[in-house]
This record gives sequence, C-alpha cells and structure tokens, in this order.
Amino acid sequence: MQKLIVGNLKMNMESVSQRDTYCKELKEEFADLKTEHVIALCPPTVYLEHFTRIFSKMPVNIGAQDCFWELYGSYTGNTSPKTIKSLGAEMVIVGHSERRKYNHETNEDIAQKVAILLRTELMPIICVGYMESDDEMDSVRKQVEIIVQNFTTDDMENLVFAYEPVWAIGSGKTPTTDEIHTMIMFIRSIVSATHGKEVAENVAILYGGSVVAENVTEVCTNAYADGVLVGRASLSPHKFAQIARMLK
Ligand code: 13P
Repeated sequence: MQKLIVGNLKMNMESVSQRDTYCKELKEEFADLKTEHVIALCPPTVYLEHFTRIFSKMPVNIGAQDCFWELYGSYTGNTSPKTIKSLGAEMVIVGHSERRKYNHETNEDIAQKVAILLRTELMPIICVGYMESDDEMDSVRKQVEIIVQNFTTDDMENLVFAYEPVWAIGSGKTPTTDEIHTMIMFIRSIVSATHGKEVAENVAILYGGSVVAENVTEVCTNAYADGVLVGRASLSPHKFAQIARMLK
C-alpha cells in the first residue's frame, strides 16, 4: 500500500552552501530509487523555490513547515499559503509541537490554517500529540476534534494527521508498535464519530518521532501508520533515502 514519507527539515541547512550540498546529495541518493511511495520534503520557507526547482523532475514533492491563516495583508513576517502554492509546493505542515511550544499556537489557530490551506488546495499535514495536560489522550482528542468538527467529510480526504508524541521527537525513543497503533485507532474513532466509519478508515494518519530506517517498516506495517514524518533522519540524504528503500 502506498505510504507518505515526509521529511521535516526544520530550521536547518542554515547557509546556502549547506543547502546546496544537501540538494546535490539528495539528488544522487534518489536518482536510482524506485519506490511506489510518495516522498516529500519540507525545507525552510526561504528555500521553497530552490527545492521545487531542483526537484521538479524527480518524484519528490515539496511542502512548507508552516503558513499564515490569511492570503495577504499586513502580517509582517508571515507567509501566505498562496505564495507557498505559487512556488510549486503541494503541502504544509501545521500545528507541529515546536510551533505550539515556541510560537504559542493554539488549536484554534491551527484550525484557521487548515481552512485557508484547503481553500488554497494545499494539503495540510496536521500534527497532533502535544501534551498540554498530563493526559496525552485528552490532548490528542481536543486537537483532532477541532478539525473534524469544523471541516466537511470531503475535506477529510484532503488532509493528513500526523501523530507525534512530543517525548519521541529527537529523543531516539519511540512508543511501542501497540501504542502507536492504539493512538492511530483512537484518532480514527474521533473522525468516525463525526464523519462515519468509512471516512475514518480512509483518513491518512502518519507517525512522527525518531523514525529511522530500522523502525519504519514496523511503524507502517505493524502499527498501520499511513506514512511517517521524519525529522533528524531526513537531514541526511542517505538516511532519508534508506527510509524510503526499507518500505516495500
Ligand atoms: P525526529 O525524527 O527528529 O524525532 O523529529 C520528528 C519530527 O518532529 C518531525 O516533524
């Protein structure tokens, strides 16, 4: 089954020369890679144009790591989804726990971003899993509910959830296969309550948090994730390509 493998490059490749080395190595790694899966990379916003141009002839989709909830106007420092779209990107990560933490983004902010992304025909990848309280289930439930209750059944086909337990990000630790599967089923049950069983079975749910080549098969096959959101390992073109190679 086709999976979605997304690299979140975060605020890295700080200089143009680092960016160019990365792109060169990635092109080499992916030149002979045959995969039925969808590969995507989300570079820093200022590099979006470069990435869409460099990878235009390769099966690598490009996405942004965030956007604003309006299309234009006096919003200093923010990026319009329309700009992201016109640069050739196809998806945008929203609600990452690092944005919730450092930029104080709320569930309401994230719902607004999802609305504008759907209008702009960009696919939102909605991160859930940040522990606002001690109860992770409760936190995930609130984060998912605001989306499912504010968007239509048709919208559910055009968005993706990514379950990212905050403690697993960058720690080298992952939940057990059963724990990931339980959370994926929990998210499906929330979708089902509003949109029905069929929609819930089809909504794409990724897993993110210390994904590497060694655990990607377990995550996608035994925990039934529809793909992965990769942080650190995507900073190495070789490791990122290995993740794609592991998935048969
Ligand atoms: P790591 O893969 O570095 O744990 O990061 C996961 C992540 O935050 C992806 O969005």
